[in-house]
Amino acid sequence: MSAVIAAVEERTDAPAYDLDAVRAEFPILRETVHGRPLVYLDNAATTQKPERVIAAVADCYRHGYANVARGVHALAERATLAYEEARGKVARFLGAESSEEIVFVRGTTEAINLVAGSWGRSNVKAGDEILITELEHHANILPWQRLCEERGARLVVAPIDERGEVPLDTLSESARENYLYARAVVGVEYAYPSISQARFAA
Ligand SMILES: Cc1ncc(COP(=O)(O)O)c(C=O)c1O
Repeated sequence: MSAVIAAVEERTDAPAYDLDAVRAEFPILRETVHGRPLVYLDNAATTQKPERVIAAVADCYRHGYANVARGVHALAERATLAYEEARGKVARFLGAESSEEIVFVRGTTEAINLVAGSWGRSNVKAGDEILITELEHHANILPWQRLCEERGARLVVAPIDERGEVPLDTLSESARENYLYARAVVGVEYAYPSISQARFAA
């Protein structure tokens, strides 16, 4: 694992994108709440939609709503084609090898349960460690607790400091490497400035 992570712990204050342009795409952010412009931060629970998503959903209900991958009529074919096109776009965006790797689910809890119950059951064995942090929502604790009990693995909970970051020096070498690797892979580095520059060497 150590060959994978080359450099970490570099801060960057440069904005990653044009915030005003992104805000302008979300009609709901033109609303006011309690007389002030809306700022919405509860994206993990559910997230607001940009104009093009709202338009695509409305377009689907108007012109192509049907079951996906199990109907034989024209609307089902149209919906299935659109669904598969979306899977292809997401696969390219994420750099997946094939759209077969993309599975759409209803939310985070379902997604993590699916990974723990499928990949986890086939790969995690007695004595393995699963690393999470004190910051996790229940959706990212319970599936791993259950898997650890089932497989005889150990759940390691990394602490969070007063800045809301994981003090990497409190982790064992292997836990630190695994933590950085997982964060780099899932791409949430910006939530954790201390690892914002995690890079892959090989
Ligand atoms: C931080 C966080 N993580 C995960 C979840 C679970 O998400 P979902 O409802 O998509 O299963 C929530 C839901 O509120 C959340 O706030």
